[in-house]
Amino acid sequence: MITYSVALKSLHSFAIDALARRVIVARTETELFTFWRQASEEATCVLLLGSGSNVLFLENYSGTVLLNRITGVKIKEDSEAWHLHVGAGEVWHDLVNTCLEKRMPGLENLALIPGCVGSAPIQNIGAYGVELKKFCEYVDVLQLETGARCRLSGAECEFGYRDSIFKHNLRERHAIVAVGLKLIKAWRPVLHYGELSRLNAGQAIPRQIYDAVCAMRRTKLPDPSQQGNAGSFFKNPVITASAAENFLRRHPDAPHYPQVGGRVKLAAGWLIDRCGFKGYRLGGAALHDKQALVLINAGQATGEDIAALARHIRLQVADRFSVWLEPEVRFIGANGEVDALGVIA
Ligand code: FAD
Ligand code: EPU
Repeated sequence: MITYSVALKSLHSFAIDALARRVIVARTETELFTFWRQASEEATCVLLLGSGSNVLFLENYSGTVLLNRITGVKIKEDSEAWHLHVGAGEVWHDLVNTCLEKRMPGLENLALIPGCVGSAPIQNIGAYGVELKKFCEYVDVLQLETGARCRLSGAECEFGYRDSIFKHNLRERHAIVAVGLKLIKAWRPVLHYGELSRLNAGQAIPRQIYDAVCAMRRTKLPDPSQQGNAGSFFKNPVITASAAENFLRRHPDAPHYPQVGGRVKLAAGWLIDRCGFKGYRLGGAALHDKQALVLINAGQATGEDIAALARHIRLQVADRFSVWLEPEVRFIGANGEVDALGVIA
């Protein structure tokens, strides 16, 4: 019989009332390896977690949650760039602040993204026209069964939109333990996204961009400490050029972003919004009233409530626009990660 003894509510941003059998904090690579092996020898499943800002617990978790809290930031510089080696358990937003305080710009568009540095490469975090890929020199990975450590170059991480090798070949039994970032000294502002384009490219300074990004995020996105959520619940759908032509003929006002190779990214938030879902509630789950792409825990939501709302939205969007949304959030069942799309399909 499994004894569930630890509340997970404060360990993930959806704040679902789920329990785990055990939670262990790993502060070094050795601890991470040792704790993972001990739990495996006891034949319990192990879930690695950073800040829990991109997961949905569907039910109680039967195994051990291993929190990666490996810290440390080392900085080297040469004439071209600053090179940072960052422990996977560092908080991403704190790193952005540290860099700005030390006058090492580059990360300002990625301010206020919740989560740990070690989780950032997994979905290649992105916001306001910039993705982690731009800065990632390498990712250090620990093979949890053998304790072997390897370093993947940025190219080897196979970064894509909300995608990387860590969602595919290196999805299981691998822990990211450190991330190497390169911040080029010849800084250039990235101002093409949304309201940032109002800033003057010739005069904008990193702190201004940081402030603008933080202000926009605070206006649009719910604060997880007030309303449980995991940011965008779905990915923005990327459709073929011919499907996009068809779609845009019928919806010429829809926001769309041409991609390399002719495909077109649509705004899932716009699609959901157009179905009239902002503020819609189902059980304990609801859609945020300012950003239709964000599902929230409106109070006492279960993981199943959130999944049921996601299922409903996905069907309605497909019915109206013939576009099928896919979850960005990772779903966790009793014994580990489950196929999120399978759950809501
Ligand atoms: P967790 O949720 O803890 O883990 C995510 C996944 O990675 C899980 O499957 C976990 O098992 C695995 N994992 C965790 N740590 C490791 C490790 N060290 N090694 C291997 N696997 C590991 N994302 C964006 O890209 N852009 C945004 O603008 C954005 N805005 C957000 C706003 C809000 C309000 C919220 C709540 C979320 C937002 N997100 C955004 C999503 C989230 O911030 C990112 O996905 C973040 O990188 C998750 O980090 P985490 O440490 O919380 O990961
Ligand atoms: N829109 C609506 N209604 C809505 C929401 C959005 O019409 O309710 C429209 C907006 O007006 C805009 C377009 O959709 O024209 C895009 O909206 P927004 O700029 O808010 O961005 P998003 O596509 O909803 C993406 C990321 C966010 C990231 C922002 C800023 C994904 C899945 N989401 O959101 O990332 O912060 O851009 O760059 O790519 C996350 O991944 O968790 C996340 C929050």
